[in-house]
Amino acid sequence: MTRIGIIGASGRMGKTIGQIVHDAPDLTYVGGVDIAESNQFGAPVYEVKNLQAFITEQSPDVMIDFTMASASAANIPVIAKMGINIILGTTGFTKEQQIEIENAIKAGNVAAVISTNFSIGMNIFWNLVREAAGRLKDYDIEVIEAHHRHKKDAPSGTARTILGILHETVGQREEVYGRNGLQERGNEIGIHVIRGGDIIGDHTVSFSKNYETIELSHRAADRAVFAQGAVLAARFVADKKSGIYAMKDVLAL
Ligand SMILES: NC(=O)c1ccc[n+]([C@@H]2O[C@H](COP(=O)([O-])OP(=O)(O)OC[C@H]3O[C@@H](n4cnc5c(N)ncnc54)[C@H](O)[C@@H]3O)[C@@H](O)[C@H]2O)c1
Repeated sequence: MTRIGIIGASGRMGKTIGQIVHDAPDLTYVGGVDIAESNQFGAPVYEVKNLQAFITEQSPDVMIDFTMASASAANIPVIAKMGINIILGTTGFTKEQQIEIENAIKAGNVAAVISTNFSIGMNIFWNLVREAAGRLKDYDIEVIEAHHRHKKDAPSGTARTILGILHETVGQREEVYGRNGLQERGNEIGIHVIRGGDIIGDHTVSFSKNYETIELSHRAADRAVFAQGAVLAARFVADKKSGIYAMKDVLAL
């Protein structure tokens, strides 16, 4: 039985993942850490200041982190140093935080799966965007994303991954966030962020040229889709010795 702990165990993603792990016959949910102490699905949630004690006492094989960028930047190096494999789903890192986290994982000689989106559909969607962009390099490209009113980072980590794919495929372009007032459209990629209600996560990439527009869209209907992907990744990483993997490795895409 693989023992799974969660950082951010009381959050929206933490609770959704906790439920799936708790119900899985091949996994044991050992609890986790969060800002406040509590209990989830019969397992203890420690205050995050006691992260090391949690790991020593509950012996997780894999820790799954869905918190916020500053929290992961502090917590991931601690876990890596203690030799625990990692699933990292948090988004909104600065380039420096991303590099520090990857260095900590390498220094700890542990294995990790890092993804801005653990849904299977989005990982296929990224391939479709790459394919479309490669054939539509002279089209105007816009990226539109929508999330619930509590999401803090913008644009979403998933949109950032989409932008990375677009730059890689069509060549580096200026990013223009929203538009206001008089301005000519240049060769930029336009990015539009919507925040409201309980939207789980919508992403659209549109390619337009005279007389036609092609739109690729992905819509998540329940955050269980990310949680299931993260749990799949946890099973994948459990017996890996070291290395940084992506969801495409987990899904063998
Ligand atoms: N990669 C993906 O597939 C994916 C999918 C959904 C959300 N996310 C990302 O996951 C993160 C969490 O999203 P959410 O909707 O669950 O947010 P949330 O606010 O509901 O949950 C975050 C939890 O982290 C806790 N937390 C904050 N600081 C902490 C710290 N220092 N130590 C331990 N716990 C701490 C909070 O108390 C909260 O319970 C966000 O960055 C979001 O963008 C990623």
